[in-house]
Amino acid sequence: MVEPIKKFQRIGVMTSGGDAPGMNPFIRAVVRTAAGEGIQVFGIEAAFEGLMHGKFREMGIREVGGILQRGGTILMTARSKEFREPAGQLEAIRQINNAGLDAIIIAGGDGSLNGAQVLAKHGIPVIGVPASIDNDIYGTDMCIGVDTALNTIVDAIDKIRDTASSHTRAFIIETMGRESGYLAIQAGIVTGAELVLIPESDLKPEDVARTIADAYKRGKTHAIVVVAEGYHPGALELGAMIDAMDIGFTMRVSILGHIQRGGKPSAYDRLLASRLGVKAVEFLIAGYTNVMTGLNGRDIVPVPIEEVVSNTRRINPDYIHIAQILSR
Ligand code: F6P
Repeated sequence: MVEPIKKFQRIGVMTSGGDAPGMNPFIRAVVRTAAGEGIQVFGIEAAFEGLMHGKFREMGIREVGGILQRGGTILMTARSKEFREPAGQLEAIRQINNAGLDAIIIAGGDGSLNGAQVLAKHGIPVIGVPASIDNDIYGTDMCIGVDTALNTIVDAIDKIRDTASSHTRAFIIETMGRESGYLAIQAGIVTGAELVLIPESDLKPEDVARTIADAYKRGKTHAIVVVAEGYHPGALELGAMIDAMDIGFTMRVSILGHIQRGGKPSAYDRLLASRLGVKAVEFLIAGYTNVMTGLNGRDIVPVPIEEVVSNTRRINPDYIHIAQILSR
């Protein structure tokens, strides 16, 4: 993994997959760290899609001024079907070699790190950086974007609670997390939800209805059920099923959707993105390749991308336990 130190002259940087608040501070950190080491940085626009079409632009320290506080990603992002095909992958390699890029730094979620792994297998030195609001990447305590998204969710649920208790209603609120219940479980704990349903949950609609009806009988003015996107049946279907049962409250469903991915990055995300961006360049210079910058306690450590993509991050059962205790 640690190879003899080679002089990097030109590197590429991209943001990939679903955008995450903090991607801009990450880009800024990479460009400024590399500039300090005399390394030229080329921004790859729209992730693997742009890579295959040679969409590179040189970025100096001035190009990344004023972006620290901006949501989204100035490099744009995409999910590419074409890159999943061998022809697309070969085209990407050709473009990298044409542009004379010595290495690529890629920030994104699981799919993006799989893409990074593909480049690595073709001999391109890569560094991965975990960025996904879902916080479902193995090998890091936190991903860029999670904290901002969680704060957005908490703000939305607090507001929904105001109207829910004014009307004596039960709300099913869906958070993002196609394959992960991380945001839902954390949001449920910090907003005092009556119930949290995550993809791993085995609770049936009847169990949910019973919990809501019980809250009604105990004189609660509202009931909040937080549902992760990946829970089956989905929020809308679940809401319709429960509404037909005897729960006391009237029911509403609210799907928070893509507002969870937007907005200016929180202080935590700016800091994490800055740390991970600096370390990505420093790891490269130190001779690490094909590793991800992982947050491990207080430290940023190199984690082999192979290990990251071949493992699944599971929710800490402590959170499920805490959510259950506190929802009484
Ligand atoms: O960013 C990850 C994620 O938010 C998932 O939780 C969600 O299912 C997905 O992205 C949706 O993204 P899009 O609408 O961009 O495909």
